[in-house]
Amino acid sequence: MPVVRGKNIEPLFTPEQIAARNVELAEEIVAGPTNDLLVISILKGSFIFAADLIRSLHAAGLAPEVEFITLSSYGAGTTGQTVRIIKDIDSDVTGRDVLLIDDILESGRTLKFARELMYERGAKNVTIAVLLDKSVKRQTDLEADYVGFECPDYFVVGYGMDVAYAFRELPFVGVVTGDAE
Ligand code: IMP
Ligand code: MG
Repeated sequence: MPVVRGKNIEPLFTPEQIAARNVELAEEIVAGPTNDLLVISILKGSFIFAADLIRSLHAAGLAPEVEFITLSSYGAGTTGQTVRIIKDIDSDVTGRDVLLIDDILESGRTLKFARELMYERGAKNVTIAVLLDKSVKRQTDLEADYVGFECPDYFVVGYGMDVAYAFRELPFVGVVTGDAE
């Protein structure tokens, strides 16, 4: 089992599985609304997935513009949580097809906020691609249009995702299972 920073990390999705799925996702995305396409990567966690997926979109024949938005979710409890914009996009979304990319869909609050924001700003279509769907954790009616993998109910790291700022650099998605010997 890989050991990183003194922790055992059990791989859940390998680099090969992720790469193959990205190609399939791009083919699905091409078949959807892609007119004047603006891809928005939701930072920080989606940066590696977005980087790979947009190159798969290129291979599938698309030429999207790419933007970044940093969102943060804070507060506790089932109803008290709020999403805040830390750093906004620069582009005008009016009349455009927008594809939001995030690492993992859990309660759905982050992506519901982002989708409503883009519709309020005049986007024509807003679709959502996530690498992982932890559907048992959903607390909204939001569903993604494009899902890489259903995710078991573990806290996962790697491929852009962190726990306490660590493990984003891992080329696979895994679960921290404990201290290494
Ligand atoms: P939601 O708003 O509850 O859907 O939360 C989604 C966000 O929580 C994702 O964009 C991630 O940043 C973060 N998140 C949720 N589960 C995990 C996990 O297992 N590992 C790392 N980040 C996670
Ligand atoms: Mg996130």
